[in-house]
Amino acid sequence: MDSEDIRKWRPSRFSDVVGAVNQRRLGRLQRTLIEGRLPSPLLLAGIYGYGKTSIVRLLLKSLCCQSRNPTTADPCGDCMWCRCFGKYYQGYGEPYRRFEYDCTTPNRTQLIEILDEHRFDDDVVLFMDELHHLHEKLSQEPMLKFVEDFDGLLIAAIMEDRLKEVIPPLRERFEVVQVSPPEEEEMVEFFERMSDDWKVLATQDVVKFMVKQSGKSFRFGIKAHAAAADERDRTLTKTMVKDMLGI
Ligand SMILES: Nc1ncnc2c1ncn2[C@@H]1O[C@H](COP(=O)(O)OP(=O)(O)OP(=O)(O)O)[C@@H](O)[C@H]1O
Ligand SMILES: [Mg+2]
Ligand SMILES: [Zn+2]
Repeated sequence: MDSEDIRKWRPSRFSDVVGAVNQRRLGRLQRTLIEGRLPSPLLLAGIYGYGKTSIVRLLLKSLCCQSRNPTTADPCGDCMWCRCFGKYYQGYGEPYRRFEYDCTTPNRTQLIEILDEHRFDDDVVLFMDELHHLHEKLSQEPMLKFVEDFDGLLIAAIMEDRLKEVIPPLRERFEVVQVSPPEEEEMVEFFERMSDDWKVLATQDVVKFMVKQSGKSFRFGIKAHAAAADERDRTLTKTMVKDMLGI
């Protein structure tokens, strides 16, 4: 499996986001997107690996899509702004120029530079991923001032158990959307579709075992499927799952 095959399994439409609960929460954002808007500042909170980053990228793609689906808000995937996404999307888009910053990287000085650069831009949507890395007071206070001044759109993603570390005046300004782990059956169904697509032989029993033993990990399930697809018989077994998990 190459990275292209794997990328295909990232949600590229809203209906691809697994989990009825997540689907319901996204519904409201889809409705505002249909009108070309998003609430701001918006914070997606959830435990690791359940689609925060993927969902925000989908929101940003839809926001700038030139022919988004009028009922679902799904991005077309084919217009100029949809195509200049991925690695190449920094600074591109209309009516919003899209920027993504990973808060694990900038130190305080870099963060202030980023905020100063965009402070008075009303045509910018800024995605700050891994916001919990701005834990020190020194980084959060400049951010608070920025949120007050900024006329563009601000979207952030955070580990939910770190939400309490965000200073209340900053936290309370955000509209928070929770991203939750799907039900076990929903994940089993997702991986059964992946097995079909990648021509991996995996019984429902093995898929269930994999989902359960990995603690419902999408990343692990994808890795295990990619490993099975590289096997001569393209079969995923419980032994492979156990070996990969070290259990
Ligand atoms: N709800 C979901 N529906 C479909 N696929 C999902 C979902 N959640 C996660 N995935 C899959 O798992 C991968 C990891 O998700 P993603 O990186 O978006 O999660 P995250 O919450 O940002 O994780 P982290 O906290 O580690 O940054 C995605 O590329 C996607 O393939
Ligand atoms: Mg992420
Ligand atoms: Zn498009």
